[in-house]
Amino acid sequence: MTQPKDPLRQWEETAKYWTRHSSTIREMFTPLTEALIQAAGISEGQKVLDIAGGAGEPSLTIAERVGPTGSVTCTDAVAEMVEAARHEAQSRGITNVQFHQCTADSLPFADESFDVVVSRLGAMFFPDPVVACKEMLRVMKPGAAIAFVVWHKSELNPFCHLITDVVSRHVPAAPADPDEPGAFRFAEPGKLANILTQSGVIDVAEQTLHFNIQAPISSEQFWTMRSETSETLRSKLATLSDAEKTQVGKEVLQAVRDFFPNSQMNFPTQMILVSGRKAG
Ligand SMILES: C[S@@+](CC[C@H](N)C(=O)[O-])C[C@H]1O[C@@H](n2cnc3c(N)ncnc32)[C@H](O)[C@@H]1O
Repeated sequence: MTQPKDPLRQWEETAKYWTRHSSTIREMFTPLTEALIQAAGISEGQKVLDIAGGAGEPSLTIAERVGPTGSVTCTDAVAEMVEAARHEAQSRGITNVQFHQCTADSLPFADESFDVVVSRLGAMFFPDPVVACKEMLRVMKPGAAIAFVVWHKSELNPFCHLITDVVSRHVPAAPADPDEPGAFRFAEPGKLANILTQSGVIDVAEQTLHFNIQAPISSEQFWTMRSETSETLRSKLATLSDAEKTQVGKEVLQAVRDFFPNSQMNFPTQMILVSGRKAG
């Protein structure tokens, strides 16, 4: 029987691909960063903590927004991601940001340190999200804001399901357990909001974000990016022969063709944003 892979090990392997495609990812998810900034009321001078900051976003955009009197602490569980984020900050000349390798449930910061905590596409991967949220509350100042964004259901997101539909015809797989860490763990409306409420966050609010995932890439570049940056896809494709992989690629390009008008990616997308604050 094959052992399930250590989730953090999977992210270590994935880090180089997120780095390779980081400028496309930044552009694709800019609307998410803006929504987090708005929901958490991020403004100049604030101290912001980004959990699971990956290759540097939304940390670096927020660092520009809080300005020289504010700062961002970018954290991620995986050293390769933290290194990629640090490198990106250097190349963009952003200096009001610090980096720490740590997991969401064990933050190396003093109580009541931050005005805001955010996490973009991270919360669904925390082994125990309630423990992680309680740890975030510990490091938040009284009254501080918290905001997370996660994927809505796969079937509402052609960016995801058009590929899954093709791949599942070639590599049958059991449906993912919705309570295990994974991209769609909090796709059910209300589920992440309940976690925040259970953890002690107050004024919890949920909204569905409708936006378009856009970037100036072709459908071929999209397929390369998706087949590299998703560990789930990489593992499934690894079970296929070269001829089968070529066939999957052809079918994906056919399935997504309507979402590349003028040879640019444009997928209608839905995500869930949950926000609240610490009692103060
Ligand atoms: C989908 S990526 C999102 C990265 C970034 N926030 C973004 O939006 O581009 C998920 C990130 O969560 C990190 N991660 C996974 N489990 C974690 C944990 N328990 N604590 C902190 N980070 C974790 C991974 O290393 C990865 O960088």
